[in-house]
Amino acid sequence: YQGLAGRSTNEILQLYAAHGQQMKLQRSSVVTQLHGAIKKRLKQDLKSLHSFALELSKDFQRQSKICLYQVLAAVQGMQLQNEAMQMCQMKAFDLEQSLQEVTERYEKEKQKRKALHNSLIELRGNIRVHCRIRPLLPFDDAAGHSVSQDRQRNFSEKAAYAADDETVLVKCSRPGHASVNKTFQFERVYNDLESQDAVFADVAPLLTSLLDGYNVCIMAYGQTGSGKTYTMLGPQLEGNLSFSIEEESELGIIPRATQEVFRLISEKPPGSYWVEVSVVEVYNNEIFDLLAKDSYGKVFGIKRDVVTTREGKSDVPLLTHETVANASEFLHLVNKGLQLRVTHPTLVHAHSSRSHLVVTLTITTVVFGDNFGTLWEDEQTSQRLNKEASCTFPQKMRDNKSTSSSRASSPVQLEATEKIKQVKTRLQLVDLAGSECVGMSGVTGAALRETSFINRSLSALADVLGAIAEQRAHIPYRNSKLTHLLQDSVGGDAKLLVMLCISPGQKYLTESMQSLGFGTRARQVQRGQVKKKNFPVLSKGK
Ligand SMILES: Nc1ncnc2c1ncn2[C@@H]1O[C@H](COP(=O)(O)OP(=O)(O)OP(=O)(O)O)[C@@H](O)[C@H]1O
Ligand SMILES: [Mg+2]
Repeated sequence: YQGLAGRSTNEILQLYAAHGQQMKLQRSSVVTQLHGAIKKRLKQDLKSLHSFALELSKDFQRQSKICLYQVLAAVQGMQLQNEAMQMCQMKAFDLEQSLQEVTERYEKEKQKRKALHNSLIELRGNIRVHCRIRPLLPFDDAAGHSVSQDRQRNFSEKAAYAADDETVLVKCSRPGHASVNKTFQFERVYNDLESQDAVFADVAPLLTSLLDGYNVCIMAYGQTGSGKTYTMLGPQLEGNLSFSIEEESELGIIPRATQEVFRLISEKPPGSYWVEVSVVEVYNNEIFDLLAKDSYGKVFGIKRDVVTTREGKSDVPLLTHETVANASEFLHLVNKGLQLRVTHPTLVHAHSSRSHLVVTLTITTVVFGDNFGTLWEDEQTSQRLNKEASCTFPQKMRDNKSTSSSRASSPVQLEATEKIKQVKTRLQLVDLAGSECVGMSGVTGAALRETSFINRSLSALADVLGAIAEQRAHIPYRNSKLTHLLQDSVGGDAKLLVMLCISPGQKYLTESMQSLGFGTRARQVQRGQVKKKNFPVLSKGK
């Protein structure tokens, strides 16, 4: 302002304008500089951004390449794995197929081995032994005798198992007892889950040989409560010893075998076979005819005796034989007979059989003299022969009941007719009373007497088998009525199947070992080739 003093307004204005101009110039140069600087900075930033972006894209490309390689490698790996998996699948399929082939071959070999074994059995007259292990049942836990709770718990555990379908394993280690680990081999072993169907499936082929001219005997052996009656007859209803045909799947061997026999007969020319049944029990070493009737026609057991005939066969004179036309007639009869069978509850179970039951089906086949031992070749011949046969049978069939003595008249009649002969084969079905330890069954008094008779007759049976096995000159059949009665079946004239019944519980270990020992010894008995009756082959179509 000092410099402005004394200057005219004009000059001042000029100065002011010049100053403004200068300021303007200065400002614009600052703006220009600033602009330049910003521009420069922006350029730099852009450049670095650009290089960063470039770097990023390069990195991205690198990464994506790596990823691509990885994806490719993974895809390749997957393809390889897929191929490997396919190879594995193919291998597994091949293995499965060869396993199936091996299994089939094994089954075929097993069947062949069984067939060979069967032929060997037949040639040597061996006794077939099947073994059935029943399931553990509620009464196995029941307090049978004075055992502490701890021991009781051990007792109800299993000791006998079916290791496979031919092996029984007995395994048990009880404190204070020597441990047992033993195996037993039999023709067939049934585990606790196997049904009555499965058991019968193995029995059925024997029935075919019955109609081919062989005698057959199926006998259930085992300690009390081990399932003999269940296996032979079926479950017994509470307070009623009969078995109902409605529960077919539960039926035992006796009713099923009868059904099968009648089925087989139905395939033969009509009228060429007839079936008679007898039911006896051996109680306290006495034989009772359970089909004998009093004068009012009511069934009651009559004591009979067993004798040896001149041919050396056992026979029960006056024994009642009823003719039956079908399985239900048979069931009806056997049911009636069973009402008389002695059973008592014991500490082991409620329906203990106190007698040996022997149900016998006698099958008479009509054979014509001229054709004896030959085939009936055509339907016409068969029909002609049937006509002749049916002329002779009605007399017999009308009677529908006979005893041994009255029965004798029929064969004589028939044999007198020159052309006609009869061949009789016999199916004996035996439900033995149970071998038992007196302490365990808890019996006293009369029941104790029964038990001792049961045990004596069973040991007589074991003695007979022992004597046959040792080929002794004298076989002690007559030591007991049971062995005397079963002499022909046990002694070699029949295909004999023993169905060993085993209770699996530790509680019954001693008895189970005894039964398994009996079965093992029975298998070793060689009775010589089982004889076949001279028999023609009859079939509907031939
Ligand atoms: N396989 C099985 N499955 C189911 N229950 C069974 C089997 N075996 C036996 N039982 C049952 O066990 C009990 C005893 O069986 P069973 O009467 O057949 O014995 P047992 O050997 O005949 O005895 P006993 O010698 O005293 O006459 C019965 O109640 C029967 O129903
Ligand atoms: Mg019984």
